Amino acid sequence: MSDKAGAGEATGDGFEPRIVAFLCNWCTSAAADLAGVSRFKYPANITPVRVMCSGMVDPFYVMYALRKGADGVLLGGCHIGDCHYLTGNWQTEKRVPLLHKALETLGIDPRRVRLEWISASEGARFVEVAAEFVADVKRLGPNPLKGASHDRGTPPAL
Ligand code: FES
Repeated sequence: MSDKAGAGEATGDGFEPRIVAFLCNWCTSAAADLAGVSRFKYPANITPVRVMCSGMVDPFYVMYALRKGADGVLLGGCHIGDCHYLTGNWQTEKRVPLLHKALETLGIDPRRVRLEWISASEGARFVEVAAEFVADVKRLGPNPLKGASHDRGTPPAL
């Protein structure tokens, strides 16, 4: 983490972060469902977005979520070697460090974006990761991009 990225740390008193979680249909989304049916509680801060594979999460989606008010973004996929589309999670694994670098360049703490491999049978692990990530983002404070005046939204369709 750079000094710049750490400079935005806040105590997070009373702050409830909004987390967007892009979860692979076959593994992490199923783990979140398992957590639900097992009656494990995880923070309500998480808004799950089911995707077919972590590899389809374009970095643009992550940036868009951050621009639109998410304080953190969780990416969840199948363990390496278990991707239902063979190489999707390899691509995700390569992309995320690049995304972290881009965030640092923009002065955004890269800890706001977290990648985890969580299989369908790991409901308890999903809960653990969700709670840990919410606590981490709470410590970071609100996303500085939130409500930025340069954000003019999505360009209109032509
Ligand atoms: S199908 Fe789960 S990461 Fe690709």
